[in-house]
Amino acid sequence: MIKNITEYETVSLDEERGALAIIDQTKLPGAFEIIYLTKQEDIHRAIRSLQVRGAPAIGVAAAIGLYLAALEIDSDDYDVFYGRLKAASSYLATSRPTAVNLFWALGRMEGAARRNSALPVSRIVELLRAEAIAIHDEDIGVCRAIGEHGLSLIKDGDGILTHCNAGQLATVRYGTALAPVYLGRMKGFNFRVFTCETRPLLQGARLSSLEMSSIGADTTLICDSMASQVMKNGWVQAIFVGCDRLAANGDACNKIGTSGLAIIAKHYDVPFYVCAPTSTIDMTARSAEDIVIEERPPEEITEMWFKERMAPEGIKAYNPAFDCADADLITAVITERGIVRPPLGRNLAALFSQ
Ligand code: MRU
Repeated sequence: MIKNITEYETVSLDEERGALAIIDQTKLPGAFEIIYLTKQEDIHRAIRSLQVRGAPAIGVAAAIGLYLAALEIDSDDYDVFYGRLKAASSYLATSRPTAVNLFWALGRMEGAARRNSALPVSRIVELLRAEAIAIHDEDIGVCRAIGEHGLSLIKDGDGILTHCNAGQLATVRYGTALAPVYLGRMKGFNFRVFTCETRPLLQGARLSSLEMSSIGADTTLICDSMASQVMKNGWVQAIFVGCDRLAANGDACNKIGTSGLAIIAKHYDVPFYVCAPTSTIDMTARSAEDIVIEERPPEEITEMWFKERMAPEGIKAYNPAFDCADADLITAVITERGIVRPPLGRNLAALFSQ
């Protein structure tokens, strides 16, 4: 039985079990299962295999994971403690390469330990718990603020197209790209939501469609290749997508297919909004060229979803998990601190200098 996903947090710290609790997203929408992870290898595998996924959720999972690692370190000596914490952090950092939130969250945890190096190790561990919980809790407020800003850009009855899943399941609550729909629904708005299925891992078909239909939004699932027809029909008034890493010049790296959508949106004059918490903006990446794009196993394309393998044995398959929408295709970036309009390079720099 599938429960209402929105009643649960996607990722949290279960103190009683001393575990990271996540909704296993690889099982959705067929089965709803919360799994509890304590071992670093299991947390790493959960991120790698997309049991927990979406940039903000990955960051929160890694922060909680690193706190659990800190609990296991049996030394009162700060240097020994920090060395082991750093090793655990470096290990979790290898789980996925593209979403900057992973590195941002681990960096925040390491910083909390370093800032308090004069304190007893037991106190530092308590502070790491507080930092992980802060990263978790802040995500809820950040997503809500993105939702409010996004909602100001659309009106009741609009058609909204989204890609992949940047909803509640990609964050702790509300999501980023789907937050405007959640908040709009709370105010009684009706949107027509088009969810791109998102080949090859079907985050749109499996997750966004589930989220949107579970809150009663008028939801239509389309194949990725149908997006241009839906836009040509005039059914889409705005596109909202999430982001894994936004470069300083505004190039937005997100699930593979995002860049194509942005190009089509420009052709049909549909506003293309990238929802990105400031934790997703990497001012050290000058442009998309500085962003590592994850490549995943060919089997995800050739056979994973089929009863029988659909592609010829031995066929070469190229499976990049992300692409980058060029900055000049983006109507605006929606952050928790406000809406950033072009020129993105200049206005993002201004946002960070505030
Ligand atoms: O490979 P995934 O499922 O982790 O990719 C997720 C996305 O591309 C999301 O759009 C992005 O992480 C933003 S989530 C708010």
